[in-house]
Amino acid sequence: MNFENQVALVTGAASKRGIGREISRQLVKRGAKVIISDIDENMLNDAVEDINQEKGSAHGLLLDVTNQDQVNEKMKEIVNDHGKIDILINNAGITRPTRVLDISKEEWDLIFNVNVNGTFYLTQAALPYMKENKYGRVVNLSSVSGKRGGGVFGGSHYSAAKAAVTGFTKAAAREMAEYGITLNTVAPGFIATDITGGLLTPEKRAEIENGIPAKRAGTAEDVAYTVAFLASPGASYLTGEEVDINGGSHID
Ligand SMILES: NC(=O)c1ccc[n+]([C@@H]2O[C@H](COP(=O)([O-])OP(=O)(O)OC[C@H]3O[C@@H](n4cnc5c(N)ncnc54)[C@H](O)[C@@H]3O)[C@@H](O)[C@H]2O)c1
Repeated sequence: MNFENQVALVTGAASKRGIGREISRQLVKRGAKVIISDIDENMLNDAVEDINQEKGSAHGLLLDVTNQDQVNEKMKEIVNDHGKIDILINNAGITRPTRVLDISKEEWDLIFNVNVNGTFYLTQAALPYMKENKYGRVVNLSSVSGKRGGGVFGGSHYSAAKAAVTGFTKAAAREMAEYGITLNTVAPGFIATDITGGLLTPEKRAEIENGIPAKRAGTAEDVAYTVAFLASPGASYLTGEEVDINGGSHID
């Protein structure tokens, strides 16, 4: 996979052991200019420094995916500064393990704002530039929770939000295919990152891993390789698809 001369934006990409940082690293390694974005400034600076140790083509951008005006403005700036946007990875996401009877309207809205509205704002902001360029790759982070209902950490609001991300991606993929733009989702299972890491006792983690056919948690790399493939020029006839990355824990 070669991403020379390509410009990529990855959202929610600062977290230290997170999937977004690893996706950014994989794209940079293969030649892309990557704009690493997040709401956490300290982690963002750390991520840029970390990734630029290998190759200096990562740029940091403070971006809250729930702020549509900011998203539109920053997308415009990216295209002004770098000439285009080839790849958009909607990775920013949050979850809460709240049971359905306890979910407040505020928490429901928060989960939807980040996971669903953020994905919509970013995608809608990038597509006109991709369409003009007759090239684009959008990869959205869904989850096994959106397919089978719940997961280790997700409540029903998270499941609903990730299912919405998948539906949105499929429908937009149909509309955009004729312009050389593909949109796909990945649906990770249990991946060892900060979203999951600190929340489990070693016993609980062992129990979960034992229930996975691959007998281990996934890694950020496991997800990042698949995302990089979907974002690559060679994946040009693959659109509206959802790729499961779960060690066999959910097979359709
Ligand atoms: N880890 C898993 O097991 C797992 C499984 C399935 C799906 N996912 C999905 O993968 C994606 C990445 O998850 P992760 O495990 O790396 O999470 P993480 O918590 O490590 O990283 C999420 C990042 O999103 C950022 N963020 C939060 N709100 C934001 C906002 N409003 N604007 C911009 N950035 C924001 C956070 O600062 C953080 O850096 C998420 O969409 C998540 O739902 C994760």
